[in-house]
Order: sequence, then structure tokens, then C-alpha cells
Amino acid sequence: MIARIVVLPGDGVGPEVTGAAQAALVAVADAFGHQFTFETHLIGGAAIRRDLPPLPQETIAACVSADAILLGAVGAPEFDSRPPGQRPESALLQIRQRLGLYANLRPARVWPGLESAGPLKPQVLGRTDLLVVRELTGGLYYGEPRGISAEGDAAWNTMRYSRQEIERIARVAFTAARARQRRVTSVDKMNVLETSRLWRSVVTEVAADYPDVRLDHMLVDSCAMRITLAPASFDVIVTENLFGDILSDEAGAVVGSLGLLPSASLGDGPGLFEPVHGSAPDIAGLDVANPIGAVLSAAMLLRHALKLEKEASAIESAVAGVTAGGELTRDLGGPASCSAVARAIAARVVSRAVT
Ligand code: IPM
Ligand code: MN
Repeated sequence: MIARIVVLPGDGVGPEVTGAAQAALVAVADAFGHQFTFETHLIGGAAIRRDLPPLPQETIAACVSADAILLGAVGAPEFDSRPPGQRPESALLQIRQRLGLYANLRPARVWPGLESAGPLKPQVLGRTDLLVVRELTGGLYYGEPRGISAEGDAAWNTMRYSRQEIERIARVAFTAARARQRRVTSVDKMNVLETSRLWRSVVTEVAADYPDVRLDHMLVDSCAMRITLAPASFDVIVTENLFGDILSDEAGAVVGSLGLLPSASLGDGPGLFEPVHGSAPDIAGLDVANPIGAVLSAAMLLRHALKLEKEASAIESAVAGVTAGGELTRDLGGPASCSAVARAIAARVVSRAVT
């Protein structure tokens, strides 16, 4: 297969972890006989520093025509005083909207050897393997009106959802559940929010088309608690944008480290693949970031964008081999560097493919 992959390293640890993800993709290409070309473009603070907008035109053009996009992270403390629309993070929000990436898949599972890496007792963590399906182009992140008063003494955002937006993300969740344990938990705040009442009724309607999938509903506060008390009880969680942002970080902590979590953002055009963690400016450039979230995002790229299932599994097995072998970065209590973990994963991809 020939594929054109646009790489957006971005800020902080972004370049280090996308380097690791790219190395894994190169290993896959060599081992399985594919031809991947990589094209790097600017995004976020990296673009602002060159006097460009957070999401330059050229970057958008490259993404629109790519087969898939691999992103690191955006965000840098030096731009903290800027208004939302001029911050590095706005690039991410714009690209999601421009490419119509409404479905964000964030799997969180226990990797071999990491049963005690997180804050939970291993018997509570069990075999946790859940998927957060986060709605990504609606809700408070995008709703209008939004703003801050001229005097700066009041500010407002709008949570808004249409039936159509809820229906399409619900279908993504039910479809994903069919390849898993066939259980969907829809998370809302219907005891307070009108958007959540609509959310619950539309998800319930859509469920009728998936009689083989079991649906339940949970309030978001209760779900946040249950993720710590019984994370293994979840299969697919489907929820709106902000709730999904919060719950996925929580799920990352529970399975050992946010640094382990990959994501796929899918829509009608090219998909975007990025780790769930942020730019982590405090450890940028130190070669200590956990590359696994980014590497697993590369596996999701192979699976979802290029339909290369065997190759995606090869990366996931390589990651499992490395975690089981105890070659771990600082966030998981180990001494290994980002680049050492990246090399170990790439080596395992190659050796698995030839055996
Ligand atoms: C994420 C991030 C982003 C979000 C930020 C950086 C805009 O936290 O992808 O989870 O809130 O969606
Ligand atoms: Mn987040």
C-alpha cells in the first residue's frame, strides 16, 4: 500500500512522541512491504512562533489531501495570556471542525505488566478495557453565543446539540460496541441540562437499530465515580464533547498513565490520530515522555485510516511486549527514555513480522 501521512508534531513533547510513532510506522512499512510518505507541517505554538496563525493555510491544505494525519500535541505556557481563538489549542479545535472530525475514539486498557502502575488496587482495576467515544465537534467547545463582556466581569458559553449530531455519534458507539462486548453506556447530565435530555432520548431511539447491543445511561458525576470504583464494568462510553474530555483523562490515570492513551478522530474526510495527553511543557525536550500513546495512535491510524488490521495489531503486540518486559518511562515508574521505548517497540514490530 502507498499512503501519504501528514505529521503535525506541534508543541512540547509533541515532536518527541510523533517521532516515536513515525518510527513505528516506518518499521511497519519495512516489515510488511508498504510505502508510507511523511510530510511534516506546522501547528499550534510552533506555527505562532513563526508568525503564522495557529493553524496555517498550508497545514490545512496538506491535511485535506492526506490519507491520514498524525498529530503530537499543541499548547505552550508562553501563549497562556492570549484569548482562546489565538492560543495554540485553537488550532486543534479548528482542524477538528474543518475536517468534520466528529467522532473521537479513546480506548483505555490495562497493558501487561502495568496492573499495578496506576492508583487502583489490581483487583479493582481487573481487566479494564474501555472505549470512550467522545463527540468532538459540538457542545460547549463550539456553541454560540460565546464571549466575555467588555468590562471582563461576565463570560458565557453555550452548550448546544442537534438531534443529527447526537444520532451520528451514537451510531459510531453502537457500531464500535459490536466489535467489542456489545455494551454501551451513554453519559449525560439529564437531571440538569436540556441538551442531555435530548441526548438521552436520541441515543435511546438509535439503540432500537442495534438490538444486539445493551444500552444503559449514567449521569456524568456518577460515571466519573464509577470509573474509579469499577472501571472494568465499562465497555463503550458515549458522551458529549466536554464530558468526554474529562472522563478520558480520568480513564488514562486509572490504567496507569495518561501517556498510554491513543485517540482517533474520525469524520467524513481524512482521520486524525493523536495521543490523548497534552504538550507537557515541563518535560519537553528531556526525552522522558511516554511515547506509547502516540505509538498506539499510529496503530489506530493503520486500522481506521488505512484498513491495515494486521499491521495495527503488530504495533499493539509490540507495545504489549515492551510493557510486559518492564521497559517503562518515568510516568510509569521506570527509567527508560522516550527514544529507548520507541526503539524497543520498532524492533519488536520488525521481529514479529519476520517470524
Ligand atoms: C484533548 C485536549 C484538547 C481538548 C485541548 C488541547 C483543546 O485536552 O484533546 O483532550 O480539550 O479537546
Ligand atoms: Mn483533554
